[in-house]
Amino acid sequence: MDLNRNIALAEKYPLDFTLQYPPRREYFQSRFRGTPDLSAAQKVSDMLLYLHVPFCAAKCYFCNFAVDVRTAEGLHQRYTDLLCLQLERLDNFLPRHVRVPGIDIGGGTPTLLEEAQLRQITAALKPWRARTTCEHPLSIETTPRIAATNPERMQALLDGGVTRISMGVQSANAATLQAVNRGLQENMTRKAVQNLRQAGFRRINVDIIFGLPNQTAADWQAEIDNILDLGVDSVTTYDCLYRGKGRALTKRTADKPNPVTYGALYDLSYHMLANAGFHAAYGSVNFSRHAGETGTSPYFEGRLFDHIPYLGAGNYASSQVGNSWWFAPYSTNAWMERIEKGDTLPGGDCYDLPPMELMAKQVLQSLNFGTINTQRFETRFHAAFDDVYADAIKTALAKGWMHRIDTGYGVTPGYFSHMPQIRALFYTTDAITWVADGEHTALPLKATAGKRKEIA
Ligand SMILES: C[S@@+](CC[C@H](N)C(=O)[O-])C[C@H]1O[C@@H](n2cnc3c(N)ncnc32)[C@H](O)[C@@H]1O
Ligand code: SF4
Repeated sequence: MDLNRNIALAEKYPLDFTLQYPPRREYFQSRFRGTPDLSAAQKVSDMLLYLHVPFCAAKCYFCNFAVDVRTAEGLHQRYTDLLCLQLERLDNFLPRHVRVPGIDIGGGTPTLLEEAQLRQITAALKPWRARTTCEHPLSIETTPRIAATNPERMQALLDGGVTRISMGVQSANAATLQAVNRGLQENMTRKAVQNLRQAGFRRINVDIIFGLPNQTAADWQAEIDNILDLGVDSVTTYDCLYRGKGRALTKRTADKPNPVTYGALYDLSYHMLANAGFHAAYGSVNFSRHAGETGTSPYFEGRLFDHIPYLGAGNYASSQVGNSWWFAPYSTNAWMERIEKGDTLPGGDCYDLPPMELMAKQVLQSLNFGTINTQRFETRFHAAFDDVYADAIKTALAKGWMHRIDTGYGVTPGYFSHMPQIRALFYTTDAITWVADGEHTALPLKATAGKRKEIA
């Protein structure tokens, strides 16, 4: 296989080689459209569960999640009622033997819901928690503003069995927050963490983003200093993605950071966090203070490391069972109407993926943790990683981008700036051809900013 083509494309179009595979959704849409086969979900032994709550106070310019900023009277309650109804239908649908290793409530901002609505959701999760297999299976996302000003909601979550909470700090810099339409949280982070500790959360995670517009190394260093001061259990450092029609920043930012800038910022925070007692494999975006933990939720660990199938409740929640990967309807209203009509798991876009695409998706996801675990790959795909990716891994090793570790392969310290090239080695030939064929519309960084039509 001519992997030089993969590497050259990644150098030219790094935005097509980010932590999300496929390169753009259109690649799957043009080739693998299918229909969800829900009955496959009844044949598995383990199933993860995701709940999507789309509501947010405002839409951050960097965000591409399915977000709904409407505040119409009764909307949140109607959505909450229907989400609970869907949970009940799904629970009835799954045979009793199916275990649930992890549950995430994400969004959007699920804690934008009122205390009573949060209690309603955790009550609806009771039968699901009876199926769980680990001590702290339930995790939720919040924002500093809500955690700081609504302690009663935090208490409701704890009462309902939520023990891990992830707070999107993103930045503590006032100018940056304003620039990304997130001025609502200034100076609230410290109070927020205090509230969460007082309430009794066992694991507090914070998300921060690097590579935001005009962010310098000194700015990023100040962000990490701020986070270290908070004394949280884990930190997720996301490299800012600039693609997709839902992200206002994609269009607004002419001078997007390049992989070398991302690499320098990642290395800075990697060393600062490591020196402060956080651990992570190099290349991972998740850092934990606790030995033996990755810092992420059981849901994400199960999904990314062990390739456990998952069901998504709520609008635009994705599900993956067997070789099918599908999404619920994007719009909140469309999803609510489908549940009201009696659907258990309303499907929208669905892709039936061939084995090489499933493998690529999983390998690229595990690279978010800086490693490829060959044993876990073999357990999932009944094929040896070293056989399937013989050329790719040989190239990564020869170039020094990856090295052998006990569990498989790890990204070599110092090579975060090469993540697009490393990822490109594991793209399917078909996906690489798709990117290459789109060269006339692809957007090389800086050169033609704004000209490319952003779709997925
Ligand atoms: C569902 S979102 C957010 C949770 C919560 N609503 C908040 O913002 O505080 C989960 C995480 O995705 C990350 N994220 C959002 N947009 C991103 C982007 N363009 N690039 C990288 N990470 C992003 C953010 O760090 C965010 O905390
Ligand atoms: S980052 Fe969080 S708060 Fe901002 S729009 Fe996205 S989901 Fe909402």
